[in-house]
Amino acid sequence: MELKEEIARRRTLGIVSHPDAGKTTLTEKLLLFGGAIHVAGAVKSNKIRRRATSDFMEIERQRGISVATSVMGFEYKGTKINILDTPGHQDFAEDTFRVLTACDSAIIVIDAARGVEERTRELARVCRLHGTPVMIFINKLDRPAADPFDILDHVERELQVRVIPLNWPTGSGELFKGIYNIREQNFYLHAPSVQELPRGGEIVDLHSDALKEYLGERAAAQLAEDIELVVGAFPPFDRDRYLAHVVAPVFFGSALHNTGIRELLDSLVEIAPPPLSRETVERAVFPDEEKFSGFVFKIHANMDPRHRDRIAFVKVCSGIFRRDTPYLHVRSGKTMKFPAPTAFMAARKSVIDEAYPGDIVGLHDTGNFKIGDTLTAGEKLHFKGIPSFSPGLFRYIDNADPGKAKQLARGIEQLVDEGVAQLFTSQFNNRKIIGTVGALQFEVIEYRLLHEYGASCRWEPLHLYKACWIEAPDARVLDDFKRRKATCMATDKQGRDVFLAESEYMLNATRESHEKVTFHFTSEF
Ligand code: G4P
Repeated sequence: MELKEEIARRRTLGIVSHPDAGKTTLTEKLLLFGGAIHVAGAVKSNKIRRRATSDFMEIERQRGISVATSVMGFEYKGTKINILDTPGHQDFAEDTFRVLTACDSAIIVIDAARGVEERTRELARVCRLHGTPVMIFINKLDRPAADPFDILDHVERELQVRVIPLNWPTGSGELFKGIYNIREQNFYLHAPSVQELPRGGEIVDLHSDALKEYLGERAAAQLAEDIELVVGAFPPFDRDRYLAHVVAPVFFGSALHNTGIRELLDSLVEIAPPPLSRETVERAVFPDEEKFSGFVFKIHANMDPRHRDRIAFVKVCSGIFRRDTPYLHVRSGKTMKFPAPTAFMAARKSVIDEAYPGDIVGLHDTGNFKIGDTLTAGEKLHFKGIPSFSPGLFRYIDNADPGKAKQLARGIEQLVDEGVAQLFTSQFNNRKIIGTVGALQFEVIEYRLLHEYGASCRWEPLHLYKACWIEAPDARVLDDFKRRKATCMATDKQGRDVFLAESEYMLNATRESHEKVTFHFTSEF
């Protein structure tokens, strides 16, 4: 097949939600409908459960499982769909943001009864920031939920995106009897079956007697009325507006009961974008360019402390990636070959000879890669759009075992490269500061430093509000600011200046007294 055809048939996407909205269930059902797995339950084991919030050993165990489910590729109707797994645990929010940088589109799952929740709002904001097109799946219609029109209003307001329903439910809870497919103009019966695919599903016409008989006269009339309203109230679906993140198609359904999944999958094939061009510092890179380029968006450490090797996940952005071919690791200037690159089909990992734009390749890494690194066929490119976000928690990290200073330094460096946490070095006292999204990460770091690097650390509390990357119209203003705020300045892992704000109040006061300086909560602006 031609490169162009291979690109056109690829869909690489992330599924995101507030915990418990049904992300795992939906992922699993997409795999089930796509024929990639045959029983439900295969993906579930990857989930970091709520009860594990204080149990990082459990998380360690899960890390091992999640390598296999980090990327779930499968073929459906001639299309190669790659679903990238995003951690559900809020303490790993930054991981999720990074995975989204490798996605060409996203599905946001919302619990119909709970509506848009905090993490959903945050994730939708990140998609908006990246311009990632989103589809919305309103889940759990088999439970009592608000009126679909009210849900749509709520979602539109909360997620700041115009919504267009592509299917429509007949009530919710006990009254949920099926879904009307607005594009295909037919009705799909809700056949509650948790483990198996609904047999046949029986599709009938909106005005058919069969539908009246199935729903009852009143419900059938209500559905017909609703559909008339929907068609009048919402403009026809426009793919270009979806691709530009102006509108989001909405699907109602029940992941648990397999309702609404088929429409979602068919729409992924039909309207979700294949890999598009991506910006680098130097130029835009197009997927159909002959030469390979890609970037590292995730690094997964080995579970075995005796082998400190890792898997770097690379998104192919252009050309064909080939096994055993020399590629340039742009940051180090080194040329590297990969004799056993892996691809991920369903929950299986296998060595591949080549991979196309949109695909994710797993590369064996002995400590060379960092998140955001670029690999190319020789050109010096640096992909953009893989920013660091300001952590919310900070602690000084000190060496607790004088004989193991080297091990500690190496361990911190590697864990930070992997994206477990961020490292800042105070410009004032030269001490190392670890920043995280959640408290759990400190435990993970301490545990891994000890078990993988034989190093012990000590924490010292540090009360900070945010780390801000700073910008000013000229170097003089910046130097002046740094001099005045010397005690609050630090350097991030890339050597960039960061202002450590103690409180929101202090940040606002600093903003007012230094009008020419701009403060950012992300490293790319
Ligand atoms: P998450 O990955 O977004 O955190 O959510 P997950 O899929 O694990 O779903 C959270 C809970 O919601 C699970 O129940 C799941 O079975 C349930 N669920 C998902 N989709 C639907 C749906 O369409 N209808 C209904 N009624 N429930 C749904 P649990 O009891 O927490 O877990 P489990 O013991 O059933 O696995």
